Amino acid sequence: MKKYIAIDGPAGAGKSTVARKLAQKLGYLYLDTGALYRAVTLYALQHGIDLGDLSQIRDMLSRITISLETNQGLQVFLNGEEVTKTIRSPQVDRSVSKVAEIKMVRDFLRETQRKIALSRPSVVEGRDIGTVILPEADLKIFLTANPETRAHRRWLELREKGDCVDYKSVLKNILERDTIDSSRAHAPLRKANDAIVIDTSFLTIEEVINKIYALAING
Ligand code: CDP
Repeated sequence: MKKYIAIDGPAGAGKSTVARKLAQKLGYLYLDTGALYRAVTLYALQHGIDLGDLSQIRDMLSRITISLETNQGLQVFLNGEEVTKTIRSPQVDRSVSKVAEIKMVRDFLRETQRKIALSRPSVVEGRDIGTVILPEADLKIFLTANPETRAHRRWLELREKGDCVDYKSVLKNILERDTIDSSRAHAPLRKANDAIVIDTSFLTIEEVINKIYALAING
């Protein structure tokens, strides 16, 4: 039985849904690391932080406390206030990869992520989990899908929430984030050498979960 499962991949590959349901099925903790970057981004937007000014970033990080609760789905709190929905807004979507490029932000969140992830058996999803955050994970999955499928999934998700965005701008945002995430200097999005790649373009969520579940209990 694998204890620490790392799931990395680009936006819309299905990481969040798969990781959450897989964690439920295994009785493991679920950690959505993107939620932490999103919470920092929300704070930066709300306080007009200049992302090019490292002293402003340092000061901002000293004022931020983020906590996660996984009792009823995932709830995210920023300095005590619930921000679960706000961190998924198109405004945050547009800025989050720029915030996640900043080394000081990544260093700040690294220990938080490791502490939560190692507190009990866990399924952890993000961009650099198998490579940087939990290189010791005993099962590493790299989930991917073609960009059009990923954008279509994200567009449906946003529409269901009542965010009226057009498909083209969702595709544009996903491609932009892929470029920034994969080419940044610190902890870029890339497959760990020992990760197993699953292309989810033509698979249902259940099929993906079953594949990873089988690897977690037998592999
Ligand atoms: O759900 P979605 O794939 O759209 O994004 P997310 O997992 O919430 O992550 C949002 C952004 O945070 C990503 O586009 C990355 O820029 C950044 N991120 C990161 O750099 N490292 C992580 N471990 C998780 C997210």
